[in-house]
Amino acid sequence: MSGLVVASNRGPYTLAEGADGQVVVRPAGGGLAPSLASALSAGEKEALWVASAMSPIERRAAGEGRVETGEGKLGLHLVSIEEEAYRASYDVVANATLWFCFHGLFDAARRPLFDRRWWEAWEHFRRYNAAFTDEIAEAADDGAVVLVNDYHLPLVGRMLAEKRPDLRTVHFTHTPFAEPVELSVLPGAVRRELIEGMAGFGACGFHTRRWEEAFSRSSVATAGRVGPTFSCGLGADTERLAEVASSPECARAAAALDELVGDRTLIMRSDRVELSKNLLRGFHAFSALLEERPELRGRVCFLARAYASREGLAEYLAYRAEAEHLVAVLNERWAPLCGGEEPIIFQVDDDFPATVAAFRRYDVLLVNPVRDGMNLVAKEGPALNERHGLLVLSEGAGAHEEMAGAAISIQPFDVAETAAGLAAALDMEEGERRERSAGLAELAAACPPAEWLESLLAQARRPKG
Ligand code: F6P
Repeated sequence: MSGLVVASNRGPYTLAEGADGQVVVRPAGGGLAPSLASALSAGEKEALWVASAMSPIERRAAGEGRVETGEGKLGLHLVSIEEEAYRASYDVVANATLWFCFHGLFDAARRPLFDRRWWEAWEHFRRYNAAFTDEIAEAADDGAVVLVNDYHLPLVGRMLAEKRPDLRTVHFTHTPFAEPVELSVLPGAVRRELIEGMAGFGACGFHTRRWEEAFSRSSVATAGRVGPTFSCGLGADTERLAEVASSPECARAAAALDELVGDRTLIMRSDRVELSKNLLRGFHAFSALLEERPELRGRVCFLARAYASREGLAEYLAYRAEAEHLVAVLNERWAPLCGGEEPIIFQVDDDFPATVAAFRRYDVLLVNPVRDGMNLVAKEGPALNERHGLLVLSEGAGAHEEMAGAAISIQPFDVAETAAGLAAALDMEEGERRERSAGLAELAAACPPAEWLESLLAQARRPKG
């Protein structure tokens, strides 16, 4: 039993088989979960993280109860959902429907489409939320605090309130939230279940006021009322980043990067291969920059680091292929005018030390999502950069609310403005450059994971309304 239970679809650890056949627990890649896990393991209370089992070995471990992480007071409990049911819930409902809805990604001529297959997936989604509810209800001490993350688990609020009214629950959404008109593409019954599910939590949190207000408006439009809400923007985990930055892997990656970039000015980006990240318009904007500023040809390169994501969805596979094709076309066009060197370097791999090496070295960082809950890259880059690098930042990123004063703002659909933003960053005189990059680093470090976690716990402790 635990006094603090955290739940999310993807957990902070992955299980693998070691050389001797024993199960080994490894920290998962980047993102929020590992940082939050280290804050929890250093805490005073026993805590339990409930997450989905995502591989055969994790499904086996799910049947065996608590998995010891080997890190302080944090344990892991895996929820095993039958593979097909999990895919329906994760791919069809969470990713292809709710993620698209919250990020404004639907192509209304074709999607969404609610057919029999979709409604079956919705049934699986309910059962998936119920399975998490059961695990949490069983693991939580009397009056325990429960922090539930993201759009995979919105129905847990109401289910848990019915089963364990003694618990103090908080839901945190790491994505944007949809305005009423955007939410209205979901069938009425789904909208109501979603909003009423979330209303079951003691409070619902978001990274920025913008998404909090969208949620409040959608709640009122759907259910006629809204419960307690709050916003609390997460900052970069500077300690963990510094550790990676001083690792031998990062040093090796830095040497390879030096070789690749040479004496060219470096513009970079780092994302998942994800439709909301707006990779294609980023490449078009870089091409427009070379078009308009011939003197930059051969003197500047664009490193796009990305790691593959959600390849169970056709849209994501097609998007990756489209991005790779576009890069090939643009490089074919520009390389002959850039002294024979390809100006766009598109690396699709999952190598965080290599990303950290690039963060330290960039001159300009492009973060241009169409919409994003926060976007930690916009903070991790400035927190690590050592060259007075500048940030060209989309108005659609949650981070924009905090960092607009020091960043160069762009509207994410406006390729011409994005190209002009890159040019403005490259042209900026040294004094202003230094001032802005120092400002960015300071803003990026505000509210690191441990402090952010404290704010969530304070929300959970506030008297129930
Ligand atoms: O960025 C928002 C977010 O929901 C994170 O909280 C989460 O890590 C990620 O997106 C989900 O990605 P995936 O589908 O790969 O788990």
